Amino acid sequence: MQTLETTPQLRQSIHHWRQSGDRIALVPTMGNLHAGHLQLVEAARDHADRVVVSIFVNPMQFSDASGNGGDFERYPRTFEADCVQLSAHNADAVFAPSVAEVYPSGLEQSSRIEVPGISDILCGEFRPGHFVGVATVVAKLFNMVQADVALFGEKDYQQLLVIQRLVADLCFPIDVIAVPTIREANGLAMSSRNQYLSAAQREQAAVMYQTLLWVRQHIGEFEGDFAALEAQACARLVEAGFRPEYVAIRRAQDLLPPSLVPGEEMGLRILAAAWLGEARLIDNIPVPNID
Ligand code: PAJ
Repeated sequence: MQTLETTPQLRQSIHHWRQSGDRIALVPTMGNLHAGHLQLVEAARDHADRVVVSIFVNPMQFSDASGNGGDFERYPRTFEADCVQLSAHNADAVFAPSVAEVYPSGLEQSSRIEVPGISDILCGEFRPGHFVGVATVVAKLFNMVQADVALFGEKDYQQLLVIQRLVADLCFPIDVIAVPTIREANGLAMSSRNQYLSAAQREQAAVMYQTLLWVRQHIGEFEGDFAALEAQACARLVEAGFRPEYVAIRRAQDLLPPSLVPGEEMGLRILAAAWLGEARLIDNIPVPNID
């Protein structure tokens, strides 16, 4: 497995693979890899001959990148262990650029990409500027790697939709593949931020997934007026010790509130974000089509 740090190094490998007619997949990550990330690497193999995994803790998507002791600084960085795992999963290359490599004009002066609407709701409302940072770094990674296909987890469902919109709007010649969420045995969605939880909190955290399942079970009783159901779900989270930001039932395609016209809505998605202790947790599940 190659470890590449600069775009010219990366381009050299890509050029070589392309000359052999290989199809190339990109799996963008911020490192601290767990089974969820590795599932993306596995899935990438089904779509390409070469798999490039990027590891870059992107300061632009953290609101406190320049502050001390904030989320950006404390984000877990485990590069060596990540490389061991990627090598075991047959990744062809790790692309781990520096901040200066990704933002040569400096973070503040860098060109930015905004995907309006979808970036401003739900998580975007609680983390202003977050999805500008995500869209910008993903667009840059797409241009740096020039892969044929990129894989993203449904765990970050809103992020997935932002990226799909970005690709469609800016005509990126890349296929975006969504991979279902990998969970712990108790249902907790795997996340690098789970390590901010104590052992007891990890058990407690499973209530978030259970709450999503509970909402799905009761959705048919509310005939499209979901505000009461969302409020009850938040109350359940509070009871279990969470500080919820939202529980929302939205249209799966664009995360807008479902219209109340019977039969008009097809796919729905139930999404939640809540703090448990020091960790901000997010999760979501699909709702099978309802008539
Ligand atoms: P990160 O949180 O490291 O996640 C990298 C990819 O792994 C994302 O596509 C995410 O949805 C996926 N993923 C994380 N946990 C998962 C799980 N439990 N099951 C399945 N997939 C999971 O998301 C980011 O990094 C960044 O925002 C990034 C896209 C790399 C841009 O900086």
